[in-house]
Amino acid sequence: MQMTRIKLSLVFFSFILISIGLVSCGQEERPKASLSDVPIIPKPSSVEDHGSSFLIKPDLTLYHLYEPGACKKACDFVKEEWKLLTGYDLKVEPLMDAPEGIVLFAKGDDDKTDNYKMIIGEDVIQIEGGATSFVRAFQTLKQIILLQQQNEATRNYIPTGVIVDEPNFEYRGTMLDVSRHFFTVEEVKEHIDMIALYKFNYLHLHLSDDQGWRIEIKSWPNLTKHGGSTEVGGGVGGFFTQEDYKEIVQYAADRFITIVPEIDMPGHTNAALASYPELNCDGKERELYTGIEVGFSTLCVDKELTYKFLDDVIGEISAITPGPYFHLGGDESHVTPEDEYLVFINKAVEIIQKHGKTPMGWDEFTAGDIPVNSVAQHWHTPENATRGQAKGAKVVMSPAKRAYLDMQYDSTSTYGLHWAAYIDVKNGYDWDPENYIEGLNKENILGIEAPLWTETVSNLNEAEYLLYPRLLGYAEVGWTPSADRSWEDYSKRLAKHSSYLQKMGVEFYESPLVDWETDVMAK
Ligand code: ACM
Repeated sequence: MQMTRIKLSLVFFSFILISIGLVSCGQEERPKASLSDVPIIPKPSSVEDHGSSFLIKPDLTLYHLYEPGACKKACDFVKEEWKLLTGYDLKVEPLMDAPEGIVLFAKGDDDKTDNYKMIIGEDVIQIEGGATSFVRAFQTLKQIILLQQQNEATRNYIPTGVIVDEPNFEYRGTMLDVSRHFFTVEEVKEHIDMIALYKFNYLHLHLSDDQGWRIEIKSWPNLTKHGGSTEVGGGVGGFFTQEDYKEIVQYAADRFITIVPEIDMPGHTNAALASYPELNCDGKERELYTGIEVGFSTLCVDKELTYKFLDDVIGEISAITPGPYFHLGGDESHVTPEDEYLVFINKAVEIIQKHGKTPMGWDEFTAGDIPVNSVAQHWHTPENATRGQAKGAKVVMSPAKRAYLDMQYDSTSTYGLHWAAYIDVKNGYDWDPENYIEGLNKENILGIEAPLWTETVSNLNEAEYLLYPRLLGYAEVGWTPSADRSWEDYSKRLAKHSSYLQKMGVEFYESPLVDWETDVMAK
């Protein structure tokens, strides 16, 4: 076979999955298949059908056009996933030589963007883009294979065609509240696996609240020893050691997902105030709290010790957080006097910046002197979001009435609350972050996040009822522009994801608004 020499010094990257025995493959009869019929979520920007199929064989090789070593993270991930998905080993090799006639693309994006182009031919699958793009494209490929595997006749074939794809928003996140109920490292990893498949790229961990402090702070050990010892309802609670947290951060990073740590303050701090009496203005210890009321606790704004505490906590967490953001909470500080709240936020923001992070906070925190490019997470008050915009902040959209994963579907829901709204599967999907707040401009919307508060769910199994199927809708709200989305089309695609969710052991809520595929739903 004649070879074409490819230089490895290309700045941009591209990957191809190429079948060994390339020349003979082309002669085989391939089943006709339609790529655009595969119900991919989130919906890609464009899908072109080529009407044939790629055969998944046991001896495929992933060739990558990468600087030596630079592929390791993405290629290791894809190799591991490929084995789980197909049962086959995938060889990984740098592309020094390519069989003649294969067009190689080397004009990809820089490594940080999610944009990708995937060309699925009869013999070669080629992915164009940097490492992040490669992993996002692979998640599309994984979904296609999983969906094809639902049918014996199609299970080894991938329909041919071209997918060009890019997200509407840079930030697409979920949030896990591990404070109201503690979730284990394994549970967090399971959640990460699911959000990776649907191309989320941020996971926000709500690590402290009135009911529990969930991350080890070496200079303040009683935070976890005492403050982590219970949870809503009086269970045993728990906490992440710093090693546990690093393991979660790494697991997420391997899937190109960034962790955003949150320490909620100055309110929502009862667990800390119960652990260290000296943090209270009156110096007296507080009882641990296992109820679900909010707005009764505050750090003492006047004490110097409060800012030593902040500096230690923010410093220790920032040192083990590679992502750019530190979330300071700032919500529902109902017992912090307004003027003191501003003093507190301004000092907290300075400390976060001193530790090299960009401040993020719930929308109330825009009252403070927040720096340009800080991030306001809109959950409650639209004016707080536009106030943030006026100060140069970016906004992450998590309106409680549309995006809170802990809201009940309807009045018959097993778990969840409904103080903001009932959010059925359609309402969770059918809204446009760009038009949700009057006067908030698209260029200032960093993205969307769907938070899961856990007052009513004590483990991941219970949480699945609230998470699924709505999480898939939030993936699409974040990725696909609203002009390209419709409930009618989405709900048909969603119906076909049920068997995958079942296969993963996910106990999702079988919403009557979705015409679930009946053979799939037969248990
Ligand atoms: C919030 O739901 N208190 C941010």
